[in-house]
Amino acid sequence: MIYHGLKGITCIETAISHIDGQNGKLIYRGYDVKELVQKQTFEETAYLLWYGSLPNSQQLHQLSEQFKSNRKLPTYVKKMIHSLPVNMDMMSVIRTTISSMGNNNMTWKPTIDQAITLTALMPSIIGYRKSVLENKSFDENAAKELNHVEYYLFMLTGAVPPKVHVEALETYMLLTLEHGLNASTFSARVTASTESDMVSSLTSAIGTMKGPLHGGAPMGVISLLDEIAASQSAIKVISEKVMNGERLMGFGHRVYKTKDPRAISLKKVLLQMLGEDQWLDLAIDIEETAISVLNKLKPGRSLYTNVEFYAAAIMKAIDMPPALFTPTFTASRVVGWTAHILEQSENNVLFRPQSRYTGETIKQ
Ligand code: CMC
Repeated sequence: MIYHGLKGITCIETAISHIDGQNGKLIYRGYDVKELVQKQTFEETAYLLWYGSLPNSQQLHQLSEQFKSNRKLPTYVKKMIHSLPVNMDMMSVIRTTISSMGNNNMTWKPTIDQAITLTALMPSIIGYRKSVLENKSFDENAAKELNHVEYYLFMLTGAVPPKVHVEALETYMLLTLEHGLNASTFSARVTASTESDMVSSLTSAIGTMKGPLHGGAPMGVISLLDEIAASQSAIKVISEKVMNGERLMGFGHRVYKTKDPRAISLKKVLLQMLGEDQWLDLAIDIEETAISVLNKLKPGRSLYTNVEFYAAAIMKAIDMPPALFTPTFTASRVVGWTAHILEQSENNVLFRPQSRYTGETIKQ
């Protein structure tokens, strides 16, 4: 029996997260993410994923300070970012830059300190590259006291961000920190299983995340909503697409057979922002129309809203440029990847599946 794409195969045990696709639940280390987004910050949830429990105030203070003190890009890294071709996409820039961080402090065996350093650097890498392309000056010390999500937005705009934007982005990032054994996490664990270092494992994961079948879906939601906004009838656009065999971006999921819990939490944030942007109102209107068309034209397939639908609307609402959608997903998922790399290293078994040979027999 061949399990193409390892579909349906269980090959690791993990205590980091659990996805209950039938009941629409996502659990990080025993906590429902719907609850975590209401009460916890990015830093607190990252601590939970790395250490296995929520931090007390002293532990949180220490982690926040570690984030702040690890934001500085080394001079050679800045020079390298400057020298990369201007037409290189941001995911390739992140992959190349993270790869360049491999040094004597980053050797096997992976540590939580390494995970914190690499996570703290993500906003600096993305923000610095953006500022280079836009020919703006960059001062990574200017936002010393900002928390991780505020700092990320600061790095993109050069200004202290509005609270509502921080809350929206923090909810998105917290909901996408971790999601079981998806393709990029699997990649990270395979590399870690060879006892290669954390930087190499992350480089594998980022390369995997870059592919459109994994990290690149929100752009399709933007196009769908733009098309509907330009037409007279949402129901007509949606029905025609489904009847023509097209996939509605932001709907359906391999694991969730009901509404994706991450979409439900993002929608709550969006409802607080209604009226700020006509786009948001449109997204809310379209969701139910799309679900009912899918239910009618694709009965029994259990097609509901996935995280990408509201992620796209939120990104647009906080003025995140589309080219930074997947990089932003990467800046949050680095926490899940590093948690998995640490877990793999604690109880390591080298990944080495079998393949069936379909080539020619030995030539005489
Ligand atoms: N729009 C229209 N029809 C759909 C859709 C959709 N979004 N998704 C699935 N279907 C139909 C599909 O055409 C097929 O119909 P039929 O039985 O007539 O051939 C049936 O549903 C089953 O499709 P499938 O590809 O076997 O289902 P899957 O569970 O393997 O697909 C999916 C999951 C996410 C690839 C798919 O739902 C899809 O392409 N959605 C649109 C892209 C998207 O929003 N991706 C982001 C997913 S969330 C990412 C994350 O969790 O990180």
